[in-house]
Amino acid sequence: MSVFDSRANEWDKKTRRVQLAKDVVSSIIKCAKPEKNIDIADFGTGTGLIMLGLADYAKSMVGYDSSQGMLDVLAEKSAEAGISNLQTVLFDLDNEKFPVEAFDMMTCSMVAHHLDNPEMFFSKAYDGIKKGGKLCLADLIITDEPFHEAPAQGEIKHEGFEVKWIEEVLLNAGYINVEIYQAAVIEKERDGKKLDFPVFLAVAEK
Ligand SMILES: C[S@@+](CC[C@H](N)C(=O)[O-])C[C@H]1O[C@@H](n2cnc3c(N)ncnc32)[C@H](O)[C@@H]1O
Repeated sequence: MSVFDSRANEWDKKTRRVQLAKDVVSSIIKCAKPEKNIDIADFGTGTGLIMLGLADYAKSMVGYDSSQGMLDVLAEKSAEAGISNLQTVLFDLDNEKFPVEAFDMMTCSMVAHHLDNPEMFFSKAYDGIKKGGKLCLADLIITDEPFHEAPAQGEIKHEGFEVKWIEEVLLNAGYINVEIYQAAVIEKERDGKKLDFPVFLAVAEK
């Protein structure tokens, strides 16, 4: 059982997490301007906080994740909401590929910092996005203090990213019109000190 499997049932109970997803969805809508009736994939979808937030825009939705526990929660939420155009897919990034040019938009929020090789995801996502489609990537901007206080062993591969590096690797992966925005600021209090953790949204076109 992965660390995310064990957290799946409690995932949506953390207000800060739900608020962050709402902020990221609002930024995606404002900055990437999705049209209605599009095919959307969400990589590292978890319980679908981002995917379900974009449901009004979707003809079809596919939530990819390596945690069956998270996908089970998403499938339950989607059934309860009467959503019939959402599919969940257990996905191993190292060994699997997305269907070729299948999606108008691929979203990925707070996942890249868990990946050994985020560039592999950017490249595989590029193949899965239709020409003219967009990748919307949200994650932590690197700061002096670590965001995660007591992560499980091996859970965190990057404490955050330099936005300049994100821009460069997306351009190297073939994307064009790469724009980077600030999607949210997560506030935490640690040892009596207020800490801000900014979250970027990169919108990149194929
Ligand atoms: C911090 S959660 C974010 C979930 C969701 N995107 C959100 O914003 O609420 C990270 C998610 O990425 C998934 N994940 C981590 N590594 C992955 C990988 N290599 N392939 C697919 N999913 C992965 C985890 O299972 C988890 O559901």
